[in-house]
Amino acid sequence: MLTGRSADQSQCSGRTTRKIRAGMKGQTMKAAVYDRYGPPDVVYVDDVEIPVPEDEQILIRVHATTVNSADWRARSLELPPGFGPIGRLVFGVFKPRHRILGTEISGVVESVGNTVSKFKPGDRVFADCGTGFGGHAEYRVIDENGPLAKIPENVSFEEAAALCFGGTVALDFLQLHGKIQPGDRVLINGASGTTGTALVQLAKHFGGHVTGVCSSSNIELVKSIGADEVIDYTVDDFTMNGRVYDIIVDTAGTAPWSRSKNSLAETGRLLIVLGSFSDILLSRFRSQRDGKKVIDAVAGSSPERCQVLADLAEARKFTPVIDRTYSLDEIVEAHSYVDSGRKKGSVVIKIVPD
Ligand SMILES: NC(=O)c1ccc[n+]([C@@H]2O[C@H](COP(=O)([O-])OP(=O)(O)OC[C@H]3O[C@@H](n4cnc5c(N)ncnc54)[C@H](OP(=O)(O)O)[C@@H]3O)[C@@H](O)[C@H]2O)c1
Repeated sequence: MLTGRSADQSQCSGRTTRKIRAGMKGQTMKAAVYDRYGPPDVVYVDDVEIPVPEDEQILIRVHATTVNSADWRARSLELPPGFGPIGRLVFGVFKPRHRILGTEISGVVESVGNTVSKFKPGDRVFADCGTGFGGHAEYRVIDENGPLAKIPENVSFEEAAALCFGGTVALDFLQLHGKIQPGDRVLINGASGTTGTALVQLAKHFGGHVTGVCSSSNIELVKSIGADEVIDYTVDDFTMNGRVYDIIVDTAGTAPWSRSKNSLAETGRLLIVLGSFSDILLSRFRSQRDGKKVIDAVAGSSPERCQVLADLAEARKFTPVIDRTYSLDEIVEAHSYVDSGRKKGSVVIKIVPD
């Protein structure tokens, strides 16, 4: 379930850890859990044991978390074509491996294990739980050397909770894979969702000339976060307008190589955040015969990535777009809204009310 060892299994012997154990043993917290794959109402709020930090771990009192497309996929097993069998291996073959969803959190350090030196009780932090999930709960343990960082003073818990999912995609795809350079012409297909709004902001930050592609109702939003140009995909098809880009990022799965290749500059890169298994295989093979490249990847997280995101948030170079906020008791409604595929930026769950 959660990454912490249960109190009874723990072999820790230090004073701090004993104190934590005594304080937490047998205590329960509220968490949104699910025991089978399915629609939003497979999720329900239940009492579960509060995880106990090991020597090198910290216990975070979660203030805010998000419901994102990873939660939707892990809950529903709706995966891009060709990824079905891989999905069950990742999320659990017969039933969910992790009962508690939630890939990103923000909160306050409640207590620390015996050997922890980087964080102390009372620190405001945010963390990327990734496919370990566990964020939709009142408490979550995480290694002190894991993907987390302190929250800058001018960043709210809600904003901090929404930094990692979109932010790591934007950093990984633009910097690591796309090798973005100032002046690059960058097109973000699917510019209004969690990853899209992060990509638009960070592509601007890295000096790109950014074109966002979204539906009519999101044009103003995408402009407001810095896009130089916006294409309404319900009116215009960017692959037919004769313009070329140094980087095309596809977060919507509607701009595969077959459609995008003529819109790439001579040494252009197509970065696939979302694509079908066969598209990804075929396009890799095809792009090798061309000066143009197609790159698919899974974004990764690290403490360094979190610190970069914290710095960007502090400087207001990346401010996560928050669409709606729900309480933990409204978790089913939050999942239903995310399932619509129409959210703008992130959907936040506030665990601790103002
Ligand atoms: N590779 C990785 O490491 C990685 C990491 C995170 C997420 N992902 C995947 O990336 C995808 C996007 O994630 P997300 O969290 O950003 O999802 P999201 O917040 O739900 O956003 C999806 C966006 O797609 C847009 N869209 C739908 N149809 C479109 C079309 N025909 N053309 C252009 N845009 C269209 C929607 O905007 P409109 O309402 O304006 O249409 C929506 O904003 C998910 O499938 C997720 O599984 C991959």
